Amino acid sequence: MKPVNIGLLGLGTVGQGVATILARNAAEIQRRTGRTIQLTHAAVRNQGKAEALDLGIQITTDAQQIVTNPDIHIVCEAMGGDDPALQLLHAALDHGKHVITANKALIAVHGNELIAKAQEKGLVVAYESSVAGGIPIIKALREGLAANRIEWLAGIINGTGNFILSEMAEKGRTFQDVLAEAQALGYAEADPTFDVEGIDAAHKLTIMASVAFGMPLEFNGVYTEGISKVTRDDVEFAEELGYRIKHLGVARRRSDGVELRVHPTLIPEKRLLANVNGVMNAVVVHGDAVGPTLYYGAGAGSEPTGSSLVADIIDVVRGIDADASHRVPVLAFQPDALEPQVILDTTDFESAYYLRLHALDQPGVLATVAGIFGDLDISIEAILQKEPEADTANLSGEDSVPTVPIILLTRRVREGLIEKAIERVELLDTITQPVTRLRVESL
Ligand code: HSE
Repeated sequence: MKPVNIGLLGLGTVGQGVATILARNAAEIQRRTGRTIQLTHAAVRNQGKAEALDLGIQITTDAQQIVTNPDIHIVCEAMGGDDPALQLLHAALDHGKHVITANKALIAVHGNELIAKAQEKGLVVAYESSVAGGIPIIKALREGLAANRIEWLAGIINGTGNFILSEMAEKGRTFQDVLAEAQALGYAEADPTFDVEGIDAAHKLTIMASVAFGMPLEFNGVYTEGISKVTRDDVEFAEELGYRIKHLGVARRRSDGVELRVHPTLIPEKRLLANVNGVMNAVVVHGDAVGPTLYYGAGAGSEPTGSSLVADIIDVVRGIDADASHRVPVLAFQPDALEPQVILDTTDFESAYYLRLHALDQPGVLATVAGIFGDLDISIEAILQKEPEADTANLSGEDSVPTVPIILLTRRVREGLIEKAIERVELLDTITQPVTRLRVESL
């Protein structure tokens, strides 16, 4: 059988991982596919730098040459960004090539149109490497769990963010210091606000929710909150209460719609997910038949991401001569069976909550606060009152009253109700700062 030729767009961290794996494991991959797979071309920005890698392939700075080359069967995109990646993948499909991409932003935002075009042409769009790096989570959702009605999934799906939170909690390092290291290691996005503000995780959550629930990709429906406002105090108070703070992506299917949300979350310290540290990712998926299942592994990096991308190449090669109708549907469900869902508004989210208040240290404050929660029928699970705050404890003068941090943990409640409670608490004269609100998931 003739070899299958691969054209790579981008030879950065991920692209080099793909080239390394294809070369090192060529014999093993041939045993799996029965075909020779050869990387023949790569499009790069810097020709000299790429040639210095000495990969024995044709290097060009003109990516159009790759997507239009009749000898290339599969185009792998590892360049990132929208422009020109989207145009190049459209062009590759127009020229009859299967496409594989590690580009989560592109799939989450433009995937519906790209996939529709591929389906029309009997081609594949594969994107395992776009979610959770080396973890085969798309494969698990799409095939391994295909018997289930998937009810919810929750994951740590941004390695950079998890690396930052872990180092802050374990070593007391500063946010900026850890971020700089993540950038140097090639984990962080070109624009690291994508990592720390949860946009990258929202892209990945969009893709997983679509494959899990059989809905079109709905990036604009994801509520996103970053980790840049998580303080060391919150990390410490959470620990005292038996929780760790993780940046979680949650997709939950309810009878009235779906919740799609990315935000810092307190997780009980005994949960496996609470112990996923550094650049590692993990996703818990709950299916009605199987119950909870957990997937863990490196969420970023050259060879872990390359591992998923090469697995997609192998999948495409195995089915390259098959009739398109015999392939696993790109978004797990038959294209005409995808069902748009009602995306629930934040006020309808249901969760438990961690609230940090700063109150004047005087009698009756706690009772007044508790009264507000009682009136709204919000059940309080735990209260922690800390020592007076250092900057207010030594105030002198008759009117000076120190403030104390008060931490409340509530039971599960609708977010609209919590917002109402926070509004009333913040109106009290005895509350000196805006209330910090973090969600708590028991998973
Ligand atoms: N910036 C991403 C992360 C890379 O840190 O997880 C992998 O998608």
